[in-house]
Amino acid sequence: MLTPSRAGRIVRDGPGHYSQGVTVLMAVQKLPGGTFTMAEDLTVTRMGYGAMQLAGPHVFGPPADRDAAVAVLREAVELGITHIDTSDYYGPHVTNQIIRQALHPYPDSVHIVTKVGALRDAEGGWPQALAPEQLRQAVLDNLANLGLDALDVVNLRVGGLDRPTPGSIAEPFTVLAQLQQEGLIKHLGLSTVSAGQIAEAQSIAPIACVQNFYNVAHRVDDDLIDSLAGQGIAYVPYFPLGGFSPLQSDELGSVAARLHATPMAVALAWLLQRSPNILLIPGTSSVAHLRDNVSGAALTLAQDDLTELASIAA
Ligand SMILES: NC(=O)c1ccc[n+]([C@@H]2O[C@H](COP(=O)([O-])OP(=O)(O)OC[C@H]3O[C@@H](n4cnc5c(N)ncnc54)[C@H](OP(=O)(O)O)[C@@H]3O)[C@@H](O)[C@H]2O)c1
Repeated sequence: MLTPSRAGRIVRDGPGHYSQGVTVLMAVQKLPGGTFTMAEDLTVTRMGYGAMQLAGPHVFGPPADRDAAVAVLREAVELGITHIDTSDYYGPHVTNQIIRQALHPYPDSVHIVTKVGALRDAEGGWPQALAPEQLRQAVLDNLANLGLDALDVVNLRVGGLDRPTPGSIAEPFTVLAQLQQEGLIKHLGLSTVSAGQIAEAQSIAPIACVQNFYNVAHRVDDDLIDSLAGQGIAYVPYFPLGGFSPLQSDELGSVAARLHATPMAVALAWLLQRSPNILLIPGTSSVAHLRDNVSGAALTLAQDDLTELASIAA
């Protein structure tokens, strides 16, 4: 049975059950950055959560402590986060199965964004998997492991580790557009793409979001972010904290020290201030870090902070 929360948090009151409605709204309003609407039926908190860190070491196999991973996801939802980023190739399958264990049946407010276009090989590599049958199977695997009838958003992941690879993406994107027509996907997105590839995809079907490598120290997509903002399309930076190489610089440290904050908080707050269409999906396997990230992103950066941080931009 669902009971309303008096504390303004989303409360889990039984296996897989959450109090919703007014309490969700109250929790969401408390999150830094507010919300962003990617499509008529798709509004998410700009403060989201990236689930990649929940699998085992190197995003391969199960985590050492599955209960801790479940706790992170439940805390994210209790804090009011409604945007969870994942992929069935994290683990593989493991991260999605943990999401399902932690949150299914999902509160109506929660939106899970997944991606397809790669596999894991026996060595833990990430080979591309863009053939039509591979894409269809990846969507079916996401549905099965997340326990859903339709996926809110599927990003087509192309390109290299941290930058787009030139070339047409029409063929694989058309496959996803077909799966959308079949009702298995509600909205489409792209990952690790150039402006030209985005335009090519938009000639086939609308896109709701773009997920590329971007952070306070890596700003190659500045023009792209502005262009997407003008179109109402979300820009979702991966590696917002530096990913496998945590952000570190004297300038970031100096701004953080001046504001009595952590470099992580400055990096997240900078992204929220950079453009209203930027959505955050910092990854963590720790409840404490999750809470730090949510509270830290509320920081306000002044012009002199922004000027100092501009010097580390690449
Ligand atoms: N589209 C793509 O190709 C792509 C590629 C990579 C990632 N992604 C998505 O983007 C999300 C974010 O990227 P990411 O997780 O790789 O990198 P990230 O968010 O830049 O950084 C994650 C790292 O920062 C640490 N961390 C997080 N919060 C911290 C805190 N408050 N204090 C200290 N350390 C902290 C985490 O360790 P702890 O676990 O110890 O907190 C982890 O090692 C992923 O989860 C995934 O969903 C997408």
